Amino acid sequence: MVLKVIIIFFAIGNFSSSNLLGSEFIKKVLPTLQKKCMSCHREPYKTKYGRVKKPKGKLILNTPNGLKKSVIPNNPEQSPLFKRVTLEKEDDEFMPPQGKEDPLTKNELENLRDWIQSGAKTGTWKGTDLSKQN
Ligand code: HEC
Repeated sequence: MVLKVIIIFFAIGNFSSSNLLGSEFIKKVLPTLQKKCMSCHREPYKTKYGRVKKPKGKLILNTPNGLKKSVIPNNPEQSPLFKRVTLEKEDDEFMPPQGKEDPLTKNELENLRDWIQSGAKTGTWKGTDLSKQN
């Protein structure tokens, strides 16, 4: 009996924690990516003059699939996305590029790191539609 209760407890615990992680992403990580990364790292789009703009560095960050390509779940240190935001600010590869957007704050870096460390789940996010802002 006691064992059953424990098993049920863990089953519910795991289920809700993975949901929670997805919503943590939406609350704590996505806003940062939207504000500081997506202007350059977004799916190809046409400007109002009809020119096609491609994502910088061929990296798309406004869709779950694109984002997953630069993140290794449970391994922030090896994730290209996390590496780029934690370089020295003077480094040529530092993201966002100097003078373009503000660097990530300590708090944003912690949230990003925790999110990758705990599996990089994106929850119900289906991508961010940027088509209204060229
Ligand atoms: C002003 C435009 C701009 C912004 C804003 C920007 N980037 Fe970049 N990013 C670039 C350019 C240009 C490259 C390609 C040159 C290079 O690799 O440094 C690049 C490359 C990258 C790469 C390497 C892609 C690869 O596979 O080689 C990563 C990862 C990256 N950016 C992450 C980010 C993150 C995370 C943010 C937000 C914190 C961000 N970038 C914001 C312009 C931008």
